[in-house]
Amino acid sequence: MIPDKTLVEKDVYHAAPEVVQGAHVPNFQKYKELYSQSIEKPEEFWGKLAKEFYWKTPKTDKFLDYNFDHTKGKIFIRWMEGATTNICYNLLDRNVHEKKLGDKVAYYWEGNDPEDCMQVTYKELLQQVCKFANVLRAQGVKKGDRISIYMPMIIELVVVMLACARIGAIHSIVFAGFSADSVCERILDSHCSLLITTDGFYRGDKPINLKQIADEALRKCRERNFSVGKCIVVKHLGVTEATGATDETCTDRASSNTQSPPAKRSCYNLQITWNADVDIWWHDLMKEASDKCEPEWCDSEDPLFILYTSGSTGKPKGVQHTVGGYLLYTATTFKYVFDYKPDDVYWCTADIGWITGHSYLAYGPLANGATSVMFEGIPTYPNVSRLWEIIDKYKVTTFYTAPTAIRLLMKYGEDPVKKFSRASLKILGTVGEPINPEAWLWYYNVVGNRKCPIMDTFWQTETGGHMMTPLPAAIPLKPGSATFPFFGVLPAILNESGEELEGEAEGYLVFKKPWPSIMRTIYGNHQRFESTYFKKFPGYFVTGDGCKRDKDGYYWITGRIDDMLNVSGHLLSTAEVESALIEHAAVVEAATVSHPHPIKGECLYCFVTLRDGHEFNETLIAELKDQVREKIGPIATPDYIQNAPGLPKTRSGKIMRRILRQIARNEKDLGDTSTLADGTVIEELFNNRCRTA
Ligand code: PRX
Repeated sequence: MIPDKTLVEKDVYHAAPEVVQGAHVPNFQKYKELYSQSIEKPEEFWGKLAKEFYWKTPKTDKFLDYNFDHTKGKIFIRWMEGATTNICYNLLDRNVHEKKLGDKVAYYWEGNDPEDCMQVTYKELLQQVCKFANVLRAQGVKKGDRISIYMPMIIELVVVMLACARIGAIHSIVFAGFSADSVCERILDSHCSLLITTDGFYRGDKPINLKQIADEALRKCRERNFSVGKCIVVKHLGVTEATGATDETCTDRASSNTQSPPAKRSCYNLQITWNADVDIWWHDLMKEASDKCEPEWCDSEDPLFILYTSGSTGKPKGVQHTVGGYLLYTATTFKYVFDYKPDDVYWCTADIGWITGHSYLAYGPLANGATSVMFEGIPTYPNVSRLWEIIDKYKVTTFYTAPTAIRLLMKYGEDPVKKFSRASLKILGTVGEPINPEAWLWYYNVVGNRKCPIMDTFWQTETGGHMMTPLPAAIPLKPGSATFPFFGVLPAILNESGEELEGEAEGYLVFKKPWPSIMRTIYGNHQRFESTYFKKFPGYFVTGDGCKRDKDGYYWITGRIDDMLNVSGHLLSTAEVESALIEHAAVVEAATVSHPHPIKGECLYCFVTLRDGHEFNETLIAELKDQVREKIGPIATPDYIQNAPGLPKTRSGKIMRRILRQIARNEKDLGDTSTLADGTVIEELFNNRCRTA
C-alpha cells in the first residue's frame, strides 16, 4: 500500500490537516519555541503548568534543586520541595468538584470476555477510592507505609493505587504475570505491610489462580521471617472461599456499589485456600466503609510509589517516584504527546503492572480528566480482531500500544483489521522497544488508514514519563525514530570517553538536566541509584541505551548497551535469568544473550554448562525453562537453551557475551578475540548451536 502522497516526502510523514487543526502545538516552530523556554527557564515553564493543579501549600521559592555530578557530592533531585498537595485529590476531587466532571466516564472497562464490561465515572471512582482509603486506614496503614499490589487489569487495581496515594501510602504494584518468587522478593525488599490481590482471572482462555500464587509468595516471605499483616482479596471471578464453588449471584464487587451496571462475571470452578488469620475479602471491608475521606497532604517530594525494574546485578531495583514532579510531568506529557482534547476516548493497552500503565493508564489521563479504556484481555482472544473491535465499540480516538503487539497482529494480515472501521482513530502511539520500520508502516497504513500520526515514545521506568517523542501536529515523523526531546528534556550523545558528540553521531544516550518525573532513588539503596545512573559519566543521567542522531537532528534509539534484554517490551537482565538457571542442580554455569525474534523483538538464548554426570536432553531443557518461569515469570521463558561444555571468557574469567551473541546468531565474524583466554571452545559452541527461527 502506498501512503498518501501529500503527507509523505522522502520517507518523512507529515500530519494531515485535521490533525494540525486545533492542535496544542500546531507546528515545528511552536515546538522549538516552547522547547527553548522549557530548557532556558525551567522554573518558569513548569511553574506555569503547576498552577493548573491544586496545591494545599503552593511553592513560593526555589522550584528546582539538584546535583547530577557525584564527584561534587550526593546525587539528589528536588522539584517544588516544601509545596504540599495530594495527587489523588488532583486526579479525582479536583475533576469532580472544580471541573464538574463527576458524571464523565473515567474508564470503560472491557473484560477478557467481550460481553464482560462496565464503566465507572469520576464521581464513582472517587467514592470507591475514598472507601478503600478508609479501609486501609482502618487496617492501620499510615503515610509512608508500603503496600504490595498483585492484581489483574480490573478497576479495583486503580482504586487501590489511588487509595494508597490518597493516604500517602507507597504502592508497589507487581505485574500479575510475575511468579511467587518475584512477588516475595519485592515484598521483602520494601517491607510491605499489606498485600492486595484477587481470587483469579482469565488470560484468554487460560485461568490464572492468582490467590494461589499470592499464598505461595506469602509462604516464601514467612520462610524468610517476614509476614505481611493482611492479604485483602478482590472477588473477581466470583468464587466462594474454602469450597471453591463458583458464586454466580455475588454482587459485592466495587462496580455494583456504583450506578454503573455490575460487570457480568466469568465464573469458573476455582479452588482457593483461605487463611482466616490473614485473608480478608475486599467486599466485606468495603461494605461498611464511608465514601468520604480527607486526603493526606503530602510534600511534593514525598514518595508516591515504588516500581521494580530489572537491574544488571540480577536483583530488581525499586525505582522510587515522588508526588509533585510525577503529577506535573505525566499530566503534561499526556496532554501534549497525545494532543488530548476533552472528547477523546483514549486507550493504552499496557498493563498497570508496568510503568506505562502507571503513567499513561492511571495518573496522566486521570490528571487531565480523560476517558480511558481499560482492557483486561489479550489481543488474540477470542479472535485476532479483538483490539479493532474494541476501538469501534468505544470510538477510541487515541490508541497506544507496544511494537510486539503490532508485530503479532501483522502476522494475521489486513483482513482482521479491516473488518472494523477504526474511523474514530486520530492518533496512534508505541512504546517499550524500538519499532522496526515494517511494523511502523503497517501500523500507519493499515491500522491508522494513513491519517493518524504515530507517537514513538522513548522512555523508561526510571524517567516516569516520555523523554524522546514526536508531537502529533508539530513534528514530521520518520518510521523508527522517536524524533526529538519532550519539553524540559536535554539529551546528549556521548562517546566511550564521555565526550559529547555533535551533529550526526552515535553513542550513549544521556540526559543533562533533571525533568520533573525523574526517579529520585532506588528504594533502600541510594548508592546503587548513584552508581547505576550517574557514575559512568559524571554530570549526566545514563539511560543504558544506545542512540543515533541523523543529519536532521532526529534521534534513533538503537537498544540497550548494557547487560539488559528487551523481550516483548519487557526489560530483563541477563544476570537474573542466569541465576535462575544456575539454581538447577545440573547447571554449573550459565550465560544469556538476546536473539532477534520476529514478534517479541528479542528473545532469550541461554548457554548452560552442566555438572559432571548430567546429560543434556529434552527433559533437562524443559526443566530449565520451567525453572526460569517459576523464578521470574512466563515473560522470561528462554526460547533457546544450548549445551556449552565451555564458555568464552577473558583471562580474568569474565564471560564474553558479545561472542556468544554472535554464536547464537550464527555470525562467523566474532570481532576482536584477542582477550579470549581459550579459543578452542568456539568451534564446539558453533557446532552445538540451537536451530533458530
Ligand atoms: O531500551 C529502551 C526501551 O525500553 C527500555 C525501558 O524499559 P522499561 O523501564 O521497562 O519501560 C518501558 C516503557 C517505558 C528503554 O531503556 N524502550 C522504551 N521505549 C522505547 C524503547 N526503545 C526504543 N524505542 C522506544 N520508543
